[in-house]
Amino acid sequence: MKVLSVVGARPQFVKLAPVAAELTASGHEHVIVHTGQHYDAELSDVFFTGLGIPAPDVHLGIGSGSHGAQTGAALTALDPVLEAHRPDWVLVYGDTNSTVAAALSAVKQHLRVAHLEAGLRSFNRRMPEEHNRVLTDHAADLLLAPTEEAMRHLAAEGLAARSALAGDVMVDVCLRVRDAVRAGGHAAPELPDGISPVEPYLLATVHRAENTDDPARLSALADALADLPLPVALPAHPRLVARAEEHGVKLERGAVRVGSPLPYAGLVAAVIGAAGVVTDSGGLQKEAFLLERPCTTLRSETEWPETLAGGWNVLVPEPGGLGAARWADTVTRPAPTAGRGTPFGDGRAARRAVELLEQRL
Ligand code: UD1
Repeated sequence: MKVLSVVGARPQFVKLAPVAAELTASGHEHVIVHTGQHYDAELSDVFFTGLGIPAPDVHLGIGSGSHGAQTGAALTALDPVLEAHRPDWVLVYGDTNSTVAAALSAVKQHLRVAHLEAGLRSFNRRMPEEHNRVLTDHAADLLLAPTEEAMRHLAAEGLAARSALAGDVMVDVCLRVRDAVRAGGHAAPELPDGISPVEPYLLATVHRAENTDDPARLSALADALADLPLPVALPAHPRLVARAEEHGVKLERGAVRVGSPLPYAGLVAAVIGAAGVVTDSGGLQKEAFLLERPCTTLRSETEWPETLAGGWNVLVPEPGGLGAARWADTVTRPAPTAGRGTPFGDGRAARRAVELLEQRL
């Protein structure tokens, strides 16, 4: 079986890692195409080296741009690559502009497309990721769902026949890296200056367009983080840095110490070391859950509602509206004692995804 994976942005490299390892272990041919949506070494190369992913076979170098320009550039560049390889499966991951471009290029060329992490829904039609997920699911031939909830969403949209429960491949990689970190197999994470790993601290990330692109909203979130009662480590995504500069919002003030984006093992270690997590990232909500740290999510909805059970994750779309004391109490609440179950699978999702690709060929 010949599988061609298309990836382009940081969370896709994380998902690719266990899938690439499993495809190789099973003796399948695997071609990796990197669109170049993320091009900074700290958002891209460190994930390939750190997670042992083979270097991409093809790099399209599309870079940044408006949604149309970026998606269009990926689509145009992918057409001849898919035509040249004609794989048995084009495998697309998650919900970025690279995902929807690859799905579209593949279906137009009558190539089978499988969507890994299918069926997630925020039901927020203003999110670019929501457009990408819905369009990709409806284009794809095989929908590899991470959760039962995702399976229900796909069934509700008439896509049950094309759907299969694979589990979440991010569990595979997160638990493997957690064990390596605990066994001392990785250097300590590079936390921002001013954050001591042996004193209590909070780990925060903000990168979603809905939180960064409106100056008033970004400013309110920066105020809320600055007011927290523990030091806040903020490894800043380039989008956050760019928008903060553009809008004249100072990020490093009060409790907040700004650092560079972390490699995957560094992020896992930083979560393990933290008293709690504040984020708008889907991946980090789950990583906090898997690593047993309370998470506060700066959004009004989540694609991962399973994390909300037992209070492991709490949605706070408007921290300012809570009042300073309640906001501080929410973020610094202790980890719940409630059991978490395994709603995202058992850490063998990549194996199941590859079996499903074999069976549905
Ligand atoms: C993209 C995905 C988002 C995912 C996120 C993970 C879409 C619509 N969004 O958002 O779902 O959660 O990746 O990080 O696909 N930039 C750099 N260097 C880079 C990449 C980006 O400086 O290597 C800056 C540029 O200013 C760019 C901005 O970040 O304009 C946004 O990058 P883009 O790829 O458009 O989207 P993300 O915000 O990273």
